[in-house]
Amino acid sequence: MKILITGVSGQLGRSLVERLGNEHQIIAADRTMLDLSKPDMIVTTVRQIAPDLIINPAAYTAVDKAESEPELAATVNTHAVASLAEVAKTLNIPLIHYSTDYVYAGNKKDTNGKLAAYTESDPVAPLNIYGQTKADGEQAIRDTGCRHLIFRTSWVYSPYGKNFLLTMLKLANEREQLNIVNDQFGAPTSAITIADITAQIIAQMSSARDTTCAENWWKMHQGTYHLVNAGTTNWCDFTRAIVQEAQQAGLLKTPGPAISGIPAVSYPTPAKRPENSMLDLNKLKLAFGVSVPEWRESMQECIRYLK
Ligand SMILES: NC(=O)c1ccc[n+]([C@@H]2O[C@H](COP(=O)([O-])OP(=O)(O)OC[C@H]3O[C@@H](n4cnc5c(N)ncnc54)[C@H](OP(=O)(O)O)[C@@H]3O)[C@@H](O)[C@H]2O)c1
Repeated sequence: MKILITGVSGQLGRSLVERLGNEHQIIAADRTMLDLSKPDMIVTTVRQIAPDLIINPAAYTAVDKAESEPELAATVNTHAVASLAEVAKTLNIPLIHYSTDYVYAGNKKDTNGKLAAYTESDPVAPLNIYGQTKADGEQAIRDTGCRHLIFRTSWVYSPYGKNFLLTMLKLANEREQLNIVNDQFGAPTSAITIADITAQIIAQMSSARDTTCAENWWKMHQGTYHLVNAGTTNWCDFTRAIVQEAQQAGLLKTPGPAISGIPAVSYPTPAKRPENSMLDLNKLKLAFGVSVPEWRESMQECIRYLK
């Protein structure tokens, strides 16, 4: 397939290019080829490329900055996504798009008052501008009626780019003490896992070759799915695991910092963040039969990559 991938300088964009590059013809679009802050240009550019599939990992991801740049965040995360979906509909090609745990309010509890994992049918109620623009982007895709898969993910890291894991590795080499939030829960997710599962799903999609098969495949599979590493942790325990793994891999110059948990209220940020980012994986597993690695296993793989 000829696959157009956006945002290829980002964590997930790069991982997708690496994972899919051997099997498909990849058109790797950075913002110089496809600037999502200029939605008017999108239709013309995509028509010229004439892909068989669009994958859109590009996004305005500066969660705190979005509070003071809501228009730009909405342009990239909502209006540009609408344009990609419209052109996908016109060209009769599918769109794979990524969204976020931040579409939820982050306060779901079970009947015993314990935090409970969100399912895809739970209502969206974003706490911040970024989450709202991502939720609106999802809805814009559904409204066009194009063939689509939307994958909501969380706490993404990779061996490259800007992310929590790399920040903690840097701080662990510089500081004797780290105070990290321990009352927000979710699944750290490797961009490599997301790319790998996306590739497995694309393989299933493209094996439905003739028109009737493809129509049936999309009838059964089109929709919104959670796609995160398995298991749950909090930022502080994630940091402890990163430091422990980095120590074993010889990536720390120092003995490593003391790590203490703090409540989120002690670490105020411009954008509100959810307490509960736990995303249930059953829909993804049932629909595609994929197995999803535990977050710790994928984190270890990332640390080994950095070694
Ligand atoms: N990172 C997370 O923790 C997280 C959590 C939940 C969901 N997600 C979602 O997962 C997906 C992948 O995230 P990620 O972590 O890979 O993000 P990332 O590393 O921040 O990469 C974002 C990419 O989008 C590109 N981009 C931003 N504005 C653009 C524009 N105007 N035109 C074209 N490209 C533009 C960036 O290009 P430049 O390099 O040129 O800026 C970069 O390549 C996104 O949909 C994100 O919303 C991420």
